[in-house]
Amino acid sequence: MVKRVLSGIQPTHDSFHLGNYLGALQQWVELQSTHDAYYCIVDLHALTVEVDPALLRKRILASAAQLLAIGINPEKSTLFIQSHVPAHNQLGWVFECITGFGEANRMTQFKDKSQKSGADRTVVGLFTYPMLQAADILLYQPELVPVGEDQRQHIELTRDLAQRFNSSYGEVFTVPGAHILKSKAKIMDLQEPTSKMSKSATSLAGVIELLDTPEANIKKIKSAVTDTGREVTFDEEQKAGISNLLSIFAAITGRSIPSIEADYVGKGYGDFKKDVAEVVTDSLKPIREAALTYLKDEGALLEILRVGAERADAVASQTLADVYQALGLLPRA
Ligand code: AMP
Ligand code: TRP
Repeated sequence: MVKRVLSGIQPTHDSFHLGNYLGALQQWVELQSTHDAYYCIVDLHALTVEVDPALLRKRILASAAQLLAIGINPEKSTLFIQSHVPAHNQLGWVFECITGFGEANRMTQFKDKSQKSGADRTVVGLFTYPMLQAADILLYQPELVPVGEDQRQHIELTRDLAQRFNSSYGEVFTVPGAHILKSKAKIMDLQEPTSKMSKSATSLAGVIELLDTPEANIKKIKSAVTDTGREVTFDEEQKAGISNLLSIFAAITGRSIPSIEADYVGKGYGDFKKDVAEVVTDSLKPIREAALTYLKDEGALLEILRVGAERADAVASQTLADVYQALGLLPRA
């Protein structure tokens, strides 16, 4: 039997960046060939931060377009939007009822985010976020959940809830494993090569976005911070900027870092940056163009998402019915 995987991504930014792509999304594409894959754009989770409706709508569509553009194939994978499948909220409530307050309070993502926004502006949805995430996952009975290291604690809670439910009410859920994605490279900010490339960076000058124009990305790469040396060699401590560019070059071309270093013996940073800019734009240009093409025909894009939601809904409704029955809730006659 092919194993099932499920993952989700929030539509909270205008574009995914190179770190998301090389660190996670490329692996989503690979997994769809070997697994029965469910990929969800978690728009309801995006409501835990303040919402600009026009912008959110645009970002949800842009997220779907980018996922298709990088190669998520809707014939192989079930690509859908969380809010299109009501069972997510319904099962989320059940999990809220079996999660301890203290247990939820220990979630580090909640602690970080609530500390940042202050107690007065912390919404209850941020607190119950992990229970909705557990529902996203367990509705589909996946064996594996491919996510980044930062999600490990949420997957642990998901496993605990599945086991708790199963032992109290009967074996309804498959207990999933975390498939912590090993990034082919940890991609750092081009302007601040000691911090991770991140969508919450204060400036986008060091962030390569999939939907940026090739010109913008070339400029960002050519202005990447480097050191005062001249050898193109990998040394994360002394040469963080050049090492990051080497990692990016290697991750995109599939070449080894030593073989790239060998090509630049006797050449300077200028030549190297020019070539990095070229491999990056060569690989991102078709993605950007495909995404823009998907966005031009909103009707067709919505149709792909409708089919995805229909497939997802069939699986999710069945799980929810099993859960309700196990809990003793009466079916509607
Ligand atoms: P985020 O939306 O920032 O949580 O990122 C989604 C996923 O992309 C994460 O789970 C990571 O696996 C991956 N990712 C994000 N930023 C980077 C980065 N700078 N380098 C490598 N992988 C990253
Ligand atoms: N919390 C995840 C993140 O911030 C997003 C997410 C929501 C998710 N539901 C999910 C990831 C289900 C995997 C599976 O990245």
